[in-house]
Amino acid sequence: MAPRWWLLILFLGGSVLQASSQPNSRGFISIDCGLMGEESYVDDETNLLYVSDAGITDTGTPYNISAEYYRPWRSRNVRSLRSFPDGARNCYTLRSLVSGLKYLFRATFLYGNYDGLNKPPTSFDLYIGVNFWTVVNMSWWGSDQDNRAEVEAIVVVPHDLVQVCLVNTGGGTPFISGLELRPLKMSLYPQATAELGLFVRRRQNFGAINETIIRFPDDPYDRIWDTWSDATMWAEMTTTERVNRLDGDYFEAPMAVLQTAITPLNASGSIKFGWDAEPQPNNLSPGYLAVLHFAELQLLDGDALRQFNISLNDESRFPGYTPPGYLNRGYVYNSFPYPRVSSYDFSLNATANTTLPPIINAYEVFSVITTTNVGTEPQDASAAMTIKAKYKVQKNWMGDPCFPKTMTWDSLNCSYATASPPRITSINLSSSGLNGDISSSFGNLKALEYLNLSNNNLTGSIPDSLSQLQSLTDIDLSGNQLNGSIPSGLLKRIQDGSLNLRINGQYGHNKAAERGGNANEPWRS
Ligand SMILES: *[C@@H]1O[C@H](CO)[C@@H](O)[C@H](O)[C@H]1NC(C)=O
Ligand SMILES: *[C@@H]1O[C@H](CO)[C@@H](O)[C@H](O)[C@H]1NC(C)=O
Ligand SMILES: *[C@@H]1O[C@H](CO)[C@@H](O)[C@H](O)[C@H]1NC(C)=O
Ligand SMILES: *[C@@H]1O[C@H](CO)[C@@H](O)[C@H](O)[C@H]1NC(C)=O
Ligand SMILES: *[C@@H]1O[C@H](CO)[C@@H](O)[C@H](O)[C@H]1NC(C)=O
Ligand SMILES: *[C@@H]1O[C@H](CO)[C@@H](O)[C@H](O)[C@H]1NC(C)=O
Ligand SMILES: *[C@@H]1O[C@H](CO)[C@@H](O)[C@H](O)[C@H]1NC(C)=O
Ligand SMILES: *[C@@H]1O[C@H](CO)[C@@H](O)[C@H](O)[C@H]1NC(C)=O
Ligand SMILES: *[C@@H]1O[C@H](CO)[C@@H](O)[C@H](O)[C@H]1NC(C)=O
Ligand SMILES: *[C@@H]1O[C@H](CO)[C@@H](O)[C@H](O)[C@H]1NC(C)=O
Ligand SMILES: *[C@@H]1O[C@H](CO)[C@@H](O)[C@H](O)[C@H]1NC(C)=O
Ligand SMILES: *[C@@H]1O[C@H](CO)[C@@H](O)[C@H](O)[C@H]1NC(C)=O
Repeated sequence: MAPRWWLLILFLGGSVLQASSQPNSRGFISIDCGLMGEESYVDDETNLLYVSDAGITDTGTPYNISAEYYRPWRSRNVRSLRSFPDGARNCYTLRSLVSGLKYLFRATFLYGNYDGLNKPPTSFDLYIGVNFWTVVNMSWWGSDQDNRAEVEAIVVVPHDLVQVCLVNTGGGTPFISGLELRPLKMSLYPQATAELGLFVRRRQNFGAINETIIRFPDDPYDRIWDTWSDATMWAEMTTTERVNRLDGDYFEAPMAVLQTAITPLNASGSIKFGWDAEPQPNNLSPGYLAVLHFAELQLLDGDALRQFNISLNDESRFPGYTPPGYLNRGYVYNSFPYPRVSSYDFSLNATANTTLPPIINAYEVFSVITTTNVGTEPQDASAAMTIKAKYKVQKNWMGDPCFPKTMTWDSLNCSYATASPPRITSINLSSSGLNGDISSSFGNLKALEYLNLSNNNLTGSIPDSLSQLQSLTDIDLSGNQLNGSIPSGLLKRIQDGSLNLRINGQYGHNKAAERGGNANEPWRS
């Protein structure tokens, strides 16, 4: 026995050392928000490594839920959370993603009276990057007495760095318990494109009797399925046989989901299911997409036929559908949102020729989210985040620097053009308590016109990278402890009159040029 224990301890030790918000070998990122006292753990239920959120946000306060909300069957992820009492927008910054790849995002919320006030927030907004994902309305999930919510979205990420932001809309303090990312195969969920994301409204697994919400260990994408079992409404069918894989499967439903199905109690009856439109404040009539999953679980004899018409709101959508043969999987889906109405009702009605009633194994419903808002030009955004981190700038520097306009970072201005992403054009960090040297990242802000770093405690020399900034016309470095010489590139710009440099109270190209006549001559400010 002893050697086995050693192996286990070594394994856990290794995973702790590797703990960070970096993707694991499957590309999974699993963050337990507000986790303290340890950096990571392997979840008993999923065997996945969960890490603390400490490294990916610099605001908010960690909390544990009240002890009375601990439940043995509940995932450990929800025991702690991070709450954001300050600022309109607070974000997590996820790095090391694969630009252009499709990801499943999942955010989990469990209030659990963490603040002792017994007053969950009514609602706040959730964004992926600069695009609205959903309102988190705790009363939508009010039937869950613990005020638990779980939301998923499928989006193509535009860059290798993506932020997930909580926006306070006046409905109480936003908080979050868990944040998970699962990379998807590009061919999966073809309705999700660079312009359109999918907000998962429901994944319903029919006929599974054991639990209400299930994740399957063999699901390569770790999705969440609700189960729906009601023996008074439907007859339930299950199999323990394997349901065959499908080449070029667009949806890859887990095996267990396809191993259960329902069929009408009355062999001549039909199957009905549906959902109500859930308007969002910024989208009163969202468009919906659905995927219906089928697998034949009954070995049919030669003359048997299972054929049915699939209609939505009494309009025929897929007439004469026959599930692929025994233990094969099939699905139907729409590529463009259904006409916008207040409720959506599918019916599966037997055709005249059928000998067997309809079946269905599962369905998924999505509302579309547009992902066409464009954030700050990525190199600018990345430079601004590096600068923020280096100088520990407080202010409201959260989320995207320039977008939306109403949340532009204090002390900087941006330019907005219709056909291209916003650019950072001016920065005034005068008297902001900056320490250390001048970040070379300023040199990556290629559209910068004005830079004021006066009256700080900056030391070292002026980085040569600043001379790369073709649009820069004014730079104020006075009131610091800089030394070294003015880089020759900058000197040249000063001499040809295209740049004003102020150091130590001297402003204007003439003075500076005189002073820097010999580029190698050291100067002090
Ligand atoms: C939450 O509980 C864990 C384990 O008991 C503890 O280590 C951690 O410090 C607590 N977190 C907070 C914010 O109190
Ligand atoms: C939250 O949901 C409830 C119930 O559907 C609704 O009455 C309320 O208006 C919603 N609040 C917001 C802010 O969307
Ligand atoms: C329900 O759970 C039991 C025990 O874990 C298991 O044996 C059974 O196969 C499950 N049934 C279904 C339909 O998942
Ligand atoms: C089954 O459905 C048919 C047609 O809808 C109906 O006439 C019949 O009474 C139903 N049988 C039962 C047992 O409900
Ligand atoms: C399907 O059958 C139900 C009754 O079982 C009926 O009300 C409905 O109109 C039928 N739908 C279509 C599209 O034929
Ligand atoms: C099924 O759909 C076909 C084609 O739309 C239609 O001709 C037929 O009447 C439908 N059958 C039933 C029972 O609704
Ligand atoms: C129903 O069966 C008849 C006779 O075999 C055939 O002509 C017809 O095409 C079938 N209809 C459907 C929808 O399969
Ligand atoms: C940004 O623009 C506003 C309005 O033009 C101006 O008052 C402010 O000084 C500018 N800030 C910077 C950092 O350039
Ligand atoms: C620059 O920032 C300083 C310190 O915050 C402020 O006093 C000054 O008005 C700002 N200047 C501009 C042009 O925005
Ligand atoms: C300025 O920087 C120097 C050297 O790093 C440091 O000793 C000093 O405390 C700093 N002053 C302020 C006000 O931060
Ligand atoms: C410039 O200052 C840094 C520390 O602030 C020091 O290490 C360096 O030697 C100084 N260089 C010159 C040329 O004075
Ligand atoms: C930089 O900011 C300081 C403080 O607000 C101001 O006095 C100075 O004129 C600014 N420099 C330039 C070049 O605008």
